[in-house]
Amino acid sequence: MESSNYSYDSVLIRAQSNHECIPIALLMLADPDIEAIQRYKTYCRWWTAEITNHVVGVCGVLQRTAQEWEIMNIAVEDSYEGQGIGSKLLDEVLQQLKQYKAKVVTVATGNSSLGALAFYQKHGFRIVRIEHDHFTTHYEQPIIENGIICRDQIILQKSWGDSNSLSYQYPYSKEPYLAMVVSVRIAQIRDSGALIRMKQKLDEQTTFMLLEPGERNLNEAEQRDMIRYALRSANSNIFLAEHEGQIIGYLEAIGGKVARNRHSVYIVVGVLQEYANRGIGRRLFQTMIHWAQDRHLHRLELNVQGNNERALHLYRSLGFRIEGIQKNALVVEHRYVDLIQMGLLL
Ligand SMILES: CC(C)(COP(=O)(O)OP(=O)(O)OC[C@H]1O[C@@H](n2cnc3c(N)ncnc32)[C@H](O)[C@@H]1OP(=O)(O)O)[C@@H](O)C(=O)NCCC(=O)NCCS
Repeated sequence: MESSNYSYDSVLIRAQSNHECIPIALLMLADPDIEAIQRYKTYCRWWTAEITNHVVGVCGVLQRTAQEWEIMNIAVEDSYEGQGIGSKLLDEVLQQLKQYKAKVVTVATGNSSLGALAFYQKHGFRIVRIEHDHFTTHYEQPIIENGIICRDQIILQKSWGDSNSLSYQYPYSKEPYLAMVVSVRIAQIRDSGALIRMKQKLDEQTTFMLLEPGERNLNEAEQRDMIRYALRSANSNIFLAEHEGQIIGYLEAIGGKVARNRHSVYIVVGVLQEYANRGIGRRLFQTMIHWAQDRHLHRLELNVQGNNERALHLYRSLGFRIEGIQKNALVVEHRYVDLIQMGLLL
């Protein structure tokens, strides 16, 4: 179809359903890094601009936290550029994100992408940060646009609501969770045997933990050593959820062991499936976050399988942010599964 042969009103902006195919060639107009596209594609929500069933524009957004979304890719076919289609697409996406209760929408571009910088600012985005030398450090080939070397990454944000929305807020401090008959406490040496058995049971119940059933070779003495280490450590701890004397959930906070990562804590968590989805994971996290804040620890991090919707929801709602996607990092039941890396700065 000729690009002049349509009316603006006939451009249809449509949310894509999961099974629909996003044209890769279009995505590569905005992002030449095909490997990066393959990483984020599955986790974005996609909208398309269509003219008589022909996709001429596309926009993908990744939900980083409960209230922050990032535009990962927005592109309009060359022959349809400069005709308001990108604006129509972006306006619709922003409207939708607002309905999803987004407070902040982020986008990153290059210092040489003058058109993109104008485009986003005209839609209410403001520059919030500059990552100097990002492109010269991360890309092998120099990028030149508009006669300018692309060196710096410019991060823009559009925010709704109050100006505090750019900083993380912890929902738990505003919305105390339902009081539960479950107690959360720190693991003691005497818990070693019960904790191993609980972990083994969890390995049987779910494929979302790292180990397959039978792979957990930790013996009671080793588990005892781990608990002893955690009890003495300034930046590690093991939290247990207990119900009627039975351990039903645990959260291990494993602090960095050398000077350069002592501020950082890696999290492993699991709740027996018969107790899942009742706020116990959230309570374990809340207790751990208070402990980490008391210890002036700065960073919490974890990995989660890409299809673990419940865990992703929980982590986002606690303020964790998707930082990266490790494509095909695991094989689970004969299928490759991605690992989503998440982090929370305290
Ligand atoms: C992930 C896990 C630790 C969470 O603990 P939990 O006690 O079940 O979680 P909570 O009940 O505190 O919170 C679950 C949240 O997910 C939401 N949720 C449940 N199913 C969901 C789904 N399919 N999609 C999106 N959100 C979902 C719940 O509504 C709840 O959110 P809310 O508090 O905003 O209503 C636990 O389910 C578990 O151990 N799962 C198996 C092992 C695992 O996945 N470990 C983590 C590996 S990273």
